[in-house]
Amino acid sequence: MADDKGYCLWFTGLSGSGKTTITNLLVKELLSRGSKLEVLDGDVVRENLSKGLGFSKEDRDTNIRRIAFVANLLSRNDVPVITAAISPYREIRDEARQMMDPHFVEVYVKASVEACEERDVKGLYAKARSGEIKEFTGVSDPYEEPENAEIVVDTEQQSPEQSAQQIVAYLEQQGFIAAS
Ligand SMILES: Nc1ncnc2c1ncn2[C@@H]1O[C@H](COP(=O)(O)OP(=O)(O)OP(=O)(O)O)[C@@H](O)[C@H]1O
Ligand SMILES: [Mg+2]
Repeated sequence: MADDKGYCLWFTGLSGSGKTTITNLLVKELLSRGSKLEVLDGDVVRENLSKGLGFSKEDRDTNIRRIAFVANLLSRNDVPVITAAISPYREIRDEARQMMDPHFVEVYVKASVEACEERDVKGLYAKARSGEIKEFTGVSDPYEEPENAEIVVDTEQQSPEQSAQQIVAYLEQQGFIAAS
């Protein structure tokens, strides 16, 4: 078992930007190195820990605070964690940062609304445009871009593999994981 330090890779980005896709690649890579790793994916959290919450600002904040609470419990006990939720509001992300500093690594999974809408993996943008879904981030609800994320992965320019590699390189460089 690798002697990992706890850290939290806090992904933020629009729906369809690539958070889950990149997370899955990282899980494969890091587990194959013998790392411990836990994942709090937005969709899974909303089915469990945050079941019943909606998409008002208040409910979104509650959802993200719950994710931060659990991520903090894990990372402070040296269990690395990836959170992969949209987390649209800067203020709540900064709360998470303060809670977990210096184990907190904000990863901006960057793709424009246009690119995400073109991908429309889950068909949600179409529903947001037609008004079937209200309060959809990037369409009818705000997304506040990070201003000083530790890592920015540009998923319009990079492949998912390149983004995952960039993140692994950062973790190695910071000493969160051993160099392979
Ligand atoms: N460079 C890239 N990095 C990540 N995903 C990419 C990239 N290029 C294309 N894609 C595609 O974009 C889609 C991203 O979907 P994904 O479910 O990972 O987004 P998400 O950020 O988790 O969205 P949500 O917030 O709705 O869960 C996938 O279909 C993926 O194949
Ligand atoms: Mg996802």
